[in-house]
Order: sequence, then structure tokens, then C-alpha cells
Amino acid sequence: MSASAVRKLSEPSDAAEGLSLMAFLADDVTRQTLSRLAGERNWREPVIEGGGLEAAHRYLADGASSDLLIVDLSETSDPLGAINGLADVCEPGTRVIALGTTNDVKLFRSLIESGIADYLVKPVSADDLLRAIDHASGVRAAASAEAARGQIIAVVGARGGVGASTVALNLAWLLSQEQGRKVALVDLDLHFGSLALSLDLETGNGFRDVLQNPSRIDPLFLERASIRAAERLILFGTEEPLATARHWDSGAFKPLLAELTKAHEIVLLDLPRAMALEHPELLAAADVALLVGDLSLSSLRDILRLKTLTRELAPKARTTLLLNRPRPPGKNDVPPAEFAKTLGEPVGGDVPYDAKAAAQAAGGGKPLVAVAKSSKAAQALRKLALGFAAPKKRSTPRRGLLARLLK
Ligand SMILES: Nc1ncnc2c1ncn2[C@@H]1O[C@H](COP(=O)(O)OP(=O)(O)O)[C@@H](O)[C@H]1O
Ligand SMILES: [Mg+2]
Repeated sequence: MSASAVRKLSEPSDAAEGLSLMAFLADDVTRQTLSRLAGERNWREPVIEGGGLEAAHRYLADGASSDLLIVDLSETSDPLGAINGLADVCEPGTRVIALGTTNDVKLFRSLIESGIADYLVKPVSADDLLRAIDHASGVRAAASAEAARGQIIAVVGARGGVGASTVALNLAWLLSQEQGRKVALVDLDLHFGSLALSLDLETGNGFRDVLQNPSRIDPLFLERASIRAAERLILFGTEEPLATARHWDSGAFKPLLAELTKAHEIVLLDLPRAMALEHPELLAAADVALLVGDLSLSSLRDILRLKTLTRELAPKARTTLLLNRPRPPGKNDVPPAEFAKTLGEPVGGDVPYDAKAAAQAAGGGKPLVAVAKSSKAAQALRKLALGFAAPKKRSTPRRGLLARLLK
């Protein structure tokens, strides 16, 4: 192998551009299978060579490295010793898949204990190879990163005044204070947002800085820009000057959400409907869209239209329709039964009118669920929050390889 090829292989890998892979295989069939897979998949400059273990040693000693190393141990009498020898010349972080002809559970276990990702017994099919490669490399990393990413819940009111901000604030409180989860609450009503006010907090300039400087978004910048509302609960809010009302076209929202979901289990967006239309990327990023309406006819119409929009922008998002009653019953109200019937699905919750609790909350600078904990409205909101409770962790399924080896 040429020195330049070695240099290329040694360049730091960029997972997004595909996996870098080196394979040293003793037989032509496996080599052809892997070459075919490499053509189909977007692997970065794969090196697929003959020669098995010895060749691997030579390349690695020359300074070559890759994300994934596949090495054929079938021609060595001491596979375990060979793998341990490889470890000395391998870059830390390289995942190794070994192939061999010995079908022995004890050997398999020892190899896994010595740190290899997988051991496949030859002959190996393209499927076996692919599964082992996916498992050992980026696909697994990507899948676990995806699983670790926080959930984005966008709360959108069918109309102003239906209680969307109240719902967002109380949900954020319940999830962080009662369920112990890390929550970021983002007030996307940039001009008239009221979440900071509801919590008796000053907005400051932090969020404005974030919106104006998307390229600076990183964990530290966001921490400084956020307002600490309570333990495990941060808030982003701003009071943009009305006289200079501007449209945010800075592209800050996507990187903001990407960063927030890394560090928070829940990212709650109080998303005014006008903002949802102006910045479709916000609703598109939602895992859950919580559409809030009251019993007015216009609210019923617009909650349905927002549901259609959500389906278009975020087809994978779970949509929950919530009925909130910010006013005492009025004669113009749509009868609740008719409301649910027209929606065509049961409401995800029904928060009763509770003037006393709402007044207590406003007076105390705290969410309703904190100051009127056992009010009927708080109970309805708590029930809703339980719908977002963390799923129980499942134990990792048994590794498939052992099963394959044992059959
Ligand atoms: N279930 C309720 N009972 C009594 N008052 C409510 C209820 N929900 C909301 N409110 C009050 O209605 C007003 C509007 O609520 P808000 O959350 O700001 O609406 P939106 O964000 O949809 O414009 C607020 O004063 C709030 O306290
Ligand atoms: Mg609001």
C-alpha cells in the first residue's frame, strides 16, 4: 500500500460521510461479498485486501487506521493471541470484527472479552456481514444517539387566549418538578411571550443573542442565554421590541433544538400558531404536537386545520388534541360532545375552567400546578403530563451472534 493511501486512511473519520473500513480477508468469496456491500453502502474509501492477519498487522504498523477493522483469523493457530497482538497496533476506538473457521463458544467469549465487537464463523453471508458491521459501527451509535435525544413537544393554540401558554408552562413544571426530568421551555412568542412573566422572571438578552448568533450555539452559550426557572427547568424567552418587529430568518431554530435535545429530556415549545406558519421547521422538529383549543367554533375549525398542518410537516409526530376551558361556559360554546365528535378523535385531556387557581398562579408568579396543586385544573394537567412519562427502560436484547454461534 502506498504511503499516501496510508495517510488517507489515517485522516480523522467523519461519521456523517460514512464509515471508514479496512478488511483483511483470507478467502476470495468473503472479499467479493464485502466489496459488493462496499459498493452498495456509502463507506469511505474502503480497503479490502487479502492476506488476513499478517496484512492487517503490516497496515496498522504503517499507521493506517479506520473506524472499523475486519480481520480474518482463519489462518492463525492462536486467534486470541493474534487479536491481543492487534490491539497493540490498533488506534483506540477502532471497532474490530473477527472472522474465523472455529465454531467454539469459549473462543467467541474470550474474543469478546478481549474487546472485539463481533466474531463471525465462516462462511459468512452478506447479511451476516452487514448486520455485524451495522452493529459494530455507526448505525448502532446513531441509533443510541437517537434514543438518547430528548423529546420535542410543541404546544400550539388553535387561537390566542385558549390557554396554550398555560398548558406549556404547567407541563414544563410537572415534567421537571414532579417527574424529575430535565426540561427546556422555549417561549416562541418573541414579542408578546408571557412565560417569564408568569414565573416572575426577567427575560434579559440571552435568547435574543442566541437568535442573532446561530453559529455560536453550543452548550455553554445556551446555558448562559437561558433563564434558570427551577431545578431541572430552564427557560428561553425574549421581549423583542415591538417598534422594530422583525422576522427571524436567522436559521437559529434548528441548531437550537438540536443542541437542546442533547442535554434535555424534554424540550417544550410554546409555539404561537403564526410562528408555526412562519417557521415550519419548528413544528417539523416536533415529536409531539399538542394542539390546544377551547369550545369556540373557530377553535374547533383551527385545531383541525393545525392537525392537518402537523401531519404534513411532521408525519411521524404524535398529535394530541387538548380541550382547555379558559372561560366559564358560554352560550356560544360548541357542546363538548359535538366538539369531540367533530374532531373525529377523543380529546387527549379536558382542563376545566378554574378562575381561582388561575388567579392564584398569576398572583404567586408560579404555575397553577404549583400553587393550586390539587385543583381540578391541576389534576387534568397532571394526567396529561403522565402521558409524557418516560418509557420504562428495556434491557438490551441478547446478542444475536452467540445464538448464531450456538446453532
Ligand atoms: N383552565 C383555565 N381556567 C381558568 N383560566 C385559564 C385557564 N386556562 C388559561 N386560563 C387563563 O386564560 C388566559 C389566557 O391563557 P394563555 O395561556 O395565555 O393563552 P394562550 O397562550 O393560548 O394565548 C390566561 O390569563 C390564563 O391564566
Ligand atoms: Mg400564549
